[in-house]
Amino acid sequence: MRKIRDDIYWTGYIDWDLRNFHGYSTPAGSTYNAYLIMDEKPTLIDTVKHYGYDEMLWRIKQIIDPAKIQYIISNHTEMDHSGTIGALLKICPNAQIVCSPKGAEGLKRHFLNSGHSDIEWKFKVVNTGDELDIGKRKLKFLLMPMVHWPDSMATYSPSDQILFPNDAFGQHYASHQRYVDEVGIEVALKEAAKYYANIVMPYGAQVLKVLEAVSTLTIDMICPSHGLIWRSAEDIAQIIVHYKKWAAYESNKQVVIVYDTMWHSTEKMAMKLYQFLDQAQVPVKLVNLKISDYSEAVTDIMNSKVVILGSAILNNHVLPSVGGFLTYLKGLKPKNRFGFTFGSYGWSKVGFKDLESAMEESGIEKIAEGQYMQFVPSAEELASLEQFIGPIKKALAI
Ligand SMILES: [Fe+2]
Ligand SMILES: [Fe+2]
Repeated sequence: MRKIRDDIYWTGYIDWDLRNFHGYSTPAGSTYNAYLIMDEKPTLIDTVKHYGYDEMLWRIKQIIDPAKIQYIISNHTEMDHSGTIGALLKICPNAQIVCSPKGAEGLKRHFLNSGHSDIEWKFKVVNTGDELDIGKRKLKFLLMPMVHWPDSMATYSPSDQILFPNDAFGQHYASHQRYVDEVGIEVALKEAAKYYANIVMPYGAQVLKVLEAVSTLTIDMICPSHGLIWRSAEDIAQIIVHYKKWAAYESNKQVVIVYDTMWHSTEKMAMKLYQFLDQAQVPVKLVNLKISDYSEAVTDIMNSKVVILGSAILNNHVLPSVGGFLTYLKGLKPKNRFGFTFGSYGWSKVGFKDLESAMEESGIEKIAEGQYMQFVPSAEELASLEQFIGPIKKALAI
């Protein structure tokens, strides 16, 4: 456990070996942050993933007999935060579960249908503005639907000026350090950006509403449910500014080319586009989906105003790596992005419909017709790709 404030302790679980979080690559691992407030009515804010139960309990037992916990606040039903509530209730017979209305529905669906119906579930359902008196403190709640699920909410302690926003402002980052300033803002922002792109990106409008509500609070510390805690005024200001930018779908004046290739022809096209952009001094990044993970590619898309998507054709469709990526991208729906499609084919261009329709469905606005070349592109055909530099620069306003 780590004391983060008088009577407030971090009692989470560090998932050092996590390398994949429901499809999102997590090379730096993650943490599931639980916080114990030792007030007159001891209160646990969130729990951890099921396999982190022993470690969480070991941390809690250094502070209190778990049986004395009066409230378990479940800010979010998803099992990385609520997965150990069923087990905890068996040793915390007095505890009430504090959650949103949708949280109560979700927790019942998860636990009562999976072998936890023998214990008593005492729900205390809260809404935005409700208070929970735990002794010296009166905790307040802010419902924040879709950041990340319909049930999601934040807990705020006015007397400590601490916000516990669950998934919001989190990062998948395993570390012995608990604070952003101990690791460095660059690392934290990089991981927070990847987290936002992969988990929160579709919900920009809802995030803006949450940011508006948060702006009315005095905040001395933001304690998310993954990764590092934001505690210095500069770091808190930085993450809020970045969330505003991401929620408004703002991006940088740069290009990302995301593709996969079969016999190197699509790769030749990608490389030629890359070279023309590089020569024109346009910031550009190449992402080969055979090598890079989807979650890396969507982070680059969040950061780039122009997105160029390419694939070879296999059996009248795009390559499976590209198809899977397009499914992922359609769900994340980056807005205010511009781009076009390209690729190589053997005898039918019909498969490029996959690329074009996915680009449209993702919300990426087409700035040029797709460029498709048969078998191996000639030097002249490759040279023709220079025609796209103008429309790209126009889209970037450079
Ligand atoms: Fe979540
Ligand atoms: Fe989470």
